Amino acid sequence: MLKRPILRGNVNFPLTLAPMVGLSHAALRRVVKSYMPKSAQTLWPTEMLNSRRLPNENFAVVPEVRKFADESNLVPQILGNEAIPIQRSCARLESEWGASGIDINMGCPVRKAIAHNYGVSLMGDEGYAREVVAMTRAATKLPISVKLRAGPQGDRDFMKRFSKGLVDAGAEWLTLHPRTAEQKRRGRADWSQLRELREHVDVAVIGNGDIQIAEDVRRMLHETEVDAVMVGRAATARPWIFWQMGEEWGWPEPEGRAGERAPRGALEEGQEYGRMLLKFIDALEAIYPLPIDGESETEWSNRVTGGAKPNWSEDLLLRKLRFFVKNGAAWLSFGLDLEAKLSRSKTMAEARQTVRNFFCQEIAMTARTELRY
Ligand SMILES: Cc1cc2nc3c(=O)[nH]c(=O)nc-3n(C[C@H](O)[C@H](O)[C@H](O)COP(=O)(O)O)c2cc1C
Repeated sequence: MLKRPILRGNVNFPLTLAPMVGLSHAALRRVVKSYMPKSAQTLWPTEMLNSRRLPNENFAVVPEVRKFADESNLVPQILGNEAIPIQRSCARLESEWGASGIDINMGCPVRKAIAHNYGVSLMGDEGYAREVVAMTRAATKLPISVKLRAGPQGDRDFMKRFSKGLVDAGAEWLTLHPRTAEQKRRGRADWSQLRELREHVDVAVIGNGDIQIAEDVRRMLHETEVDAVMVGRAATARPWIFWQMGEEWGWPEPEGRAGERAPRGALEEGQEYGRMLLKFIDALEAIYPLPIDGESETEWSNRVTGGAKPNWSEDLLLRKLRFFVKNGAAWLSFGLDLEAKLSRSKTMAEARQTVRNFFCQEIAMTARTELRY
């Protein structure tokens, strides 16, 4: 189904989850996977990982690099601009962690990334951006990709030159989120740039930006002819968009959902959101296990990480849950009410009960919303 290979041919499903700080951790991946058609192979992101910190981190205790044992096709995203940290990070991700590819972040617009001259600021220096790809190419045998933003306004030739440079330096596919750095995530993504990039490079292009419903996926594929589509914020609201598209393209149902149809329409989707949120809580608790009653810190550490103190707490799980809901609730009737109730839940058990109670009422999901964050 894919015209150009992604992950050297190991991707057969043209829809994928976006890397998102605070969201694209193992719990979200598990939830999205539960809606992925059986036998569909896509790629799986991580939150952005800083290559200056990765080499010295204990992977067992760091929340951003936790993963479930059954995960595959993982393409962690690194932030970096120096050869040694990139080389050490790639070595660990490849041999110790089981990465299938490495994605380089050239889109992060936050002040800190710009101050360190990585993230989107790499797009301000074509030669150096190419070098960062070359450094990564030299550091690993894995396939590598770059996720980038739109170039400076008005300069249509920039993207052509810039992307060509990345491909020449070794990028095997490119993901474009066609908003400028100044736009951050506001305004509209300019899909016409996806089409231009698609026409200009020989490698696969993944299109990203403003996908909210299945129709948007269809439209992006049709209008831009990108090889695959990446969903960010909407995957926190209707992760079954992967199932909806699978259904349209003739893929089998997800594992455990044989004979069912993907949720569609305001009420079915609202009901599924409640079920999904409970699954998300389960997944958070599975990937970040908390101490059980009476367990000492040493016993907990031995059970969970093999001895080192985990870098998470019930408070972190609650924050992750609230952030997830803050994103997804924009599509939900009474979403603000759910957010407020969860902000008052003091334990995960309370949060779970809050979700159960909230979804006793009929909750509707809207197709589109103003993208708030
Ligand atoms: C909370 C949040 C965190 C993000 N963090 C990252 C990141 O770490 N790396 C990255 O390349 N993009 C990041 N993004 C951008 C998304 O990957 C995506 O490009 C953007 O949200 C547009 O897609 P969407 O309209 O489908 O959400 C982030 C987006 C959000 C909402």
